[in-house]
Amino acid sequence: MFITFDGGDGCGKSTQQKRLGDWFQSQGYEVVLCRDPGSTALGNEIRQILLHGHELRIENKTEMLLFMAARAQMVEEIIRPALEMGKMVISDRFLLSNLVYQGYAGGISLEILEKVGQIAVDGIMPDLAMILDIPYEVAIERIGNRNVPDRMEQKGEEFHRRVRNGFLQHAAIHPNRYVVIDAVPPPQEVETAIQNVIRERFGICGL
Ligand code: TYD
Repeated sequence: MFITFDGGDGCGKSTQQKRLGDWFQSQGYEVVLCRDPGSTALGNEIRQILLHGHELRIENKTEMLLFMAARAQMVEEIIRPALEMGKMVISDRFLLSNLVYQGYAGGISLEILEKVGQIAVDGIMPDLAMILDIPYEVAIERIGNRNVPDRMEQKGEEFHRRVRNGFLQHAAIHPNRYVVIDAVPPPQEVETAIQNVIRERFGICGL
């Protein structure tokens, strides 16, 4: 099974990804965690360019293609083989982040993103895609406690408000594909909400 977490910066995806992985593992599942962009040698190089290449000129279209390229590599190197071996794969971000950051917020048409996305993921789509939702103000408070903002975090308030709205808008258009989870409560409560969604959706034995 393939599960993904997306959401604005500071929504707590990475924490919830780890907790969910531990939960599945405690039930005897073999779990593979990955993060998009990243998780492969090439993906990590691309991630470095995208998030820390402050001195580079990167056009919107190029940025979009770099995110797609990192994902294409991760799909073939990590996700597809793991799924074929029956493992539980949980990804911190996936194609939806591309649609929202570079589409809804960045201005590239969804039609183009979906076409390129199809090539990048080549049939690998999540069985469950969760969106962790927090208002911009809460996100800023959380991110403010971290180190230097990365290249994407530096895109400014308007951009990040469009990101949040983009996630909600896209989820509203495709209610069967995405589950929106309120990520404002403490991590333990968000974790329980996520587990409840999984039980409801899949009725997995023992969970
Ligand atoms: P993330 O790993 O969540 O960053 P952090 O570990 O700092 O929380 O995501 C990296 C950034 O890249 C984040 O700002 C979202 C952005 N992003 C895109 O713009 N497009 C994409 O397709 C993906 C996957 C991420």
